[in-house]
Amino acid sequence: MDFYDKDLVSIRDLDREKIEYILDLSKKMVPYARGEKVKRALDGKILGNLFFEPSTRTKLSFESAAHRLGCDVIDVSEMSMTSISKGENLADTIRMVDAYCDAIVLRHPYEGAARLAADVSENPVINAGDGAGSHPTQTLLDLFTMREAKGSLDGLNVVLVGDLKYGRTVHSLAEALTMFGVRLTLVAPESLQMPQDIVDRLRNKGCNPKKTTVLEDAIPQADVLYVTRIQKERFPDPAEYQKIAGTYRIDNSILRSAKSDMIVMHPLPRVNEIATEVDSTPHARYFQQAFNGVPVRMAILCSIMGGKIDD
Ligand code: CP
Repeated sequence: MDFYDKDLVSIRDLDREKIEYILDLSKKMVPYARGEKVKRALDGKILGNLFFEPSTRTKLSFESAAHRLGCDVIDVSEMSMTSISKGENLADTIRMVDAYCDAIVLRHPYEGAARLAADVSENPVINAGDGAGSHPTQTLLDLFTMREAKGSLDGLNVVLVGDLKYGRTVHSLAEALTMFGVRLTLVAPESLQMPQDIVDRLRNKGCNPKKTTVLEDAIPQADVLYVTRIQKERFPDPAEYQKIAGTYRIDNSILRSAKSDMIVMHPLPRVNEIATEVDSTPHARYFQQAFNGVPVRMAILCSIMGGKIDD
């Protein structure tokens, strides 16, 4: 499968066959991700981890994935700690990091930053979230989590709820799910619905998502309830955020109408969207989902940086 030395900027860089290859390899990576088996498939390589926006899961799971594979990591967590604070532009910063490592992982507050980085970097660039744009490695771990729970992605009934406008994880995920004939329901306040250009792309790929503001109507048919945080940091007006915060909250009472095997996912961090009482129900899958970031990112790093896992 042709991943070696390639960028991963958008989920649109991948087709179904490539996605399934990564999901299959991720499954093989689980015992390595847990430390039950050891293989230094990327010994001698260096990963550059640039996180110019806060992150717990993506940054640390990429680091964990790299270390599990014997790959060294150089990293920056704040723009203020780089020469960007002296006026250096992103392109020159990327050229410099490119000279010091074998692949770059970039999180950036601006949509399009990962594409720019990929254009100037000789080594591959992996988008770890660009503003309200997309988050393709999150999508791969989301798909892995769904497939592990449900056995197959084909024909699932998936409900996306919350901030579908600014939530980049749902942008990538919705597009990927169209490759698997998934039925999609989009639950959001009118002002936070999925951007029309993405809905148009879903329709062009044969998926006609249902849109609603009423979460209760969507839950009984759902196989997967994918909950997102209202992205406070992306609202131009804090008063608009206050009007919408708390619109949807998943608790045990709302889950009474769910199928017994329906899973609740969330890319995390959560604020108040999922009550902690849900954590101990069989529906909760979000902490497993966060762990899955390690084997999935091991599969991505191995494929892009040229590591081999044979068993
Ligand atoms: N899911 C996710 O991207 O989490 P972080 O912002 O903590 O990386």
